[in-house]
Amino acid sequence: MTPTRLEITCPDDWHLHLRDGDALASVVAHTAQRFARAIVMPNLKPPVTTVAQAEDYRRRILASLPAASRFQPLMTLYLTENMPVEEVARAKASDNVFAVKYYPAGATTNSASGVRELSRVYRVIEAMERHELPLLLHGEVTDPDIDIFDRERVFIERHLMPLRERFPALRMVLEHITTRDAVDFVSGAPANVAATITAHHLLLNRNALFDGGIRPHNYCAPILKRETHRAALLQAATRGDTHFFLGTDSAPHVREAKETACGCAGLYTAHAALEFYAEAFEQVGRLDRLEAFASFHGPDFYRLPRNEGRVVLERAHWLVPDEYPLAGSTCKPMRAGESVAWSLVQPAAY
Ligand code: NCD
Ligand code: ZN
Repeated sequence: MTPTRLEITCPDDWHLHLRDGDALASVVAHTAQRFARAIVMPNLKPPVTTVAQAEDYRRRILASLPAASRFQPLMTLYLTENMPVEEVARAKASDNVFAVKYYPAGATTNSASGVRELSRVYRVIEAMERHELPLLLHGEVTDPDIDIFDRERVFIERHLMPLRERFPALRMVLEHITTRDAVDFVSGAPANVAATITAHHLLLNRNALFDGGIRPHNYCAPILKRETHRAALLQAATRGDTHFFLGTDSAPHVREAKETACGCAGLYTAHAALEFYAEAFEQVGRLDRLEAFASFHGPDFYRLPRNEGRVVLERAHWLVPDEYPLAGSTCKPMRAGESVAWSLVQPAAY
């Protein structure tokens, strides 16, 4: 019988976009209600490329939190071909920077400053391997000759396999995986390789992009894949494998930026993130495995303590609003105007 109440160790979100300024203030509470910590993506405009910028951004996040919140942002640096090798030692020495993020130039929102040629950042990656600083990978090729649905698989073959061979001790996280190929690669690798999985890639397949018409709010990078891949992700997330952990990739965009001739990639899921994961785990009768995926495997990989607080979900439907405020405009969240099966009844510690 399905449980109707779920109490777990307070989880963390290992891949999150919080934006900055007014947008940051609009969204951060949703995450702070559900998670004790989050790995915060550095793809601002301009990107966060230095430890000093990351420390400033962290202070702005802390200043935007609800007064009593104890949420901790874990900062990352954006890897560019100009990053000095010394920045890696500075990051390692800082108490607040936990990883460096690799974006292939042009792969997704605000990725223009990303890497064009991996060999140009080998010296930085070599320093990361030495300092045991994790490299977080947006794992897609941007070659226009490659079909968009094959971008992740081809990245694994062309770039990830050679990278693993060249830097075998490098700690790396393949972010927001979307394919069976990524599941196979990561589960076959040693413990210094891991992957995050989003709630939307567990719940939706690519049919959600064209459900009675084109659905720009379901467009994200990497793009949703066919059902066989979704099933492989759900299997990987729910089988207790320590390589896999929670990372929402919640990526808010104002409505106008999505409902347009050339819309931005990104789904907003922070408003119901944990609830969505509970729905996914429930689908395969594995709610008992949610805690390890959401609250244990991530801190263990990042060598951080597991959280001490608890959160409680109850199996009670609630209706997602049609939109949330976002930086003077609005954002259409995942499941807008429809119901979510689980409710958060005891949020993360305040
Ligand atoms: C992200 C964003 O909007 O910043 N978009 C997305 O579709 N996931 C960037 C990213 O993580 O690719
Ligand atoms: Zn992301």
